[in-house]
Amino acid sequence: MPATVVVGLQWGDEGKGKTTDLLAESVSLVVRYQGGDNAGHTIVLGDEVFKLHLVPSGVLHPHITPVIGNGVVVNPRTLLAEMAMLRERGVDATRVRVSRNAHVIMPYHVALDGATEARLSNDGLGTTRRGIGPAYADRAARVGIRMGDLLDPVGLRQRLARILPERNAVLAEAYAQPPFELDELVAEAAGWGTALADHIVDTTNLVQDALERGEHVLLEGAQGTMLDLDHGTYPYVTSSNPIAGGACTGAGVGPLQIDQVIGVMKAYATRVGSGPFPTQLDDETGTHLLQKGKEFGTTTGRQRRCGWFDAAPLRHAVAVNSVSSIMVNKLDILSGLPEIRLCTGYTVDGRAARWPLPLPELERAEPVYAAFPGWHEDLGGVRRMEDLPVTAGRYLDALEDLAGVPITLVSVGPERNQTIVRTGRVAARARRPATTGV
Ligand code: IMP
Repeated sequence: MPATVVVGLQWGDEGKGKTTDLLAESVSLVVRYQGGDNAGHTIVLGDEVFKLHLVPSGVLHPHITPVIGNGVVVNPRTLLAEMAMLRERGVDATRVRVSRNAHVIMPYHVALDGATEARLSNDGLGTTRRGIGPAYADRAARVGIRMGDLLDPVGLRQRLARILPERNAVLAEAYAQPPFELDELVAEAAGWGTALADHIVDTTNLVQDALERGEHVLLEGAQGTMLDLDHGTYPYVTSSNPIAGGACTGAGVGPLQIDQVIGVMKAYATRVGSGPFPTQLDDETGTHLLQKGKEFGTTTGRQRRCGWFDAAPLRHAVAVNSVSSIMVNKLDILSGLPEIRLCTGYTVDGRAARWPLPLPELERAEPVYAAFPGWHEDLGGVRRMEDLPVTAGRYLDALEDLAGVPITLVSVGPERNQTIVRTGRVAARARRPATTGV
């Protein structure tokens, strides 16, 4: 049985939760490998809507162990609130496992993120203000608190006593913010440790043992390729690696243990926060996508910027993730538009430009569009490719040609069954390193 990565190919919010949900039957472990409660997964089960930020969406399936891997930054307040919400709604949250090596988002990380964004105002990155950047910065600077540290209040106090004065000084001097009290912080953090003690484990062994037993492990990315710290539109990115490679470091699997990579994308594009977005639409088509697509952030409630599908970075996204097949979400949202456009590349200063582009060039990039006739039919009830309007099929074919890998799943509504499974389209095998003949 395979290890499968589910990865976003755009700027996040591609609908990865639905992909995970569709695969859930065959899966025993769902592992989040990066990000934190900046993410938001909305899962619709009949009349019930679940919004999850930290707990992997697999928790809704009783046979799945939801795992928060070492690459995730965890705000224990959010985690405990989410587990309580699940319990109240009759979902068993005792199965949730959190890596003891995952870093903790401390209250001062949240304060620093908010203070930086507030000071920069319109020049800010438009972060979710959840403390993601400061927590990952402390991890890299080796002054972070890890989930395992919460289980040892004495060691925790010693660590915090070293770290806190500096954080408080920055908050006071750079941002005129009040300090955090050591005693209060230690008490709250130790309380998290007590409440989460049964959940904090070594998740690498958990994942490796499942793979060893031949079980199907799903590695779930948050955000998307264009928000990747290394391969996205830096600095307008998040502070982790959403790309499939992030699953190796963030869940403790080797590259050759990954059998398939499912790239998830929407039939159009959205972006939340600041940063270049060449296909953005500020007209009535943009409003159509925003309203019909309900494009409001799960985490912050912010209105997402909407635009035509941007295929300029698509090949690159397919390559850096070694995507073996694609799921296209929200095709139904395009119904009713007289014409649909697809950005096939950019020109910069009159010359064709290839992704990736340096930021100043990306900011000047002019999209080159291919135009397709639209369709009016509601797609919500379509379950087979042959029942799609011909024009919708042509649009999908064009997307597939540009991606260079098969589109095997197409979603036409939020429900699990509102999905077209394209049989006969064999997923390309995840690329293996080429063997060099001697
Ligand atoms: P941060 O991850 O909160 O530091 O935010 C950095 C950038 O990533 C901002 O532009 C956010 O809007 C964006 N971002 C973070 N998480 C998500 C997500 O789950 N979906 C879409 N955008 C996100």
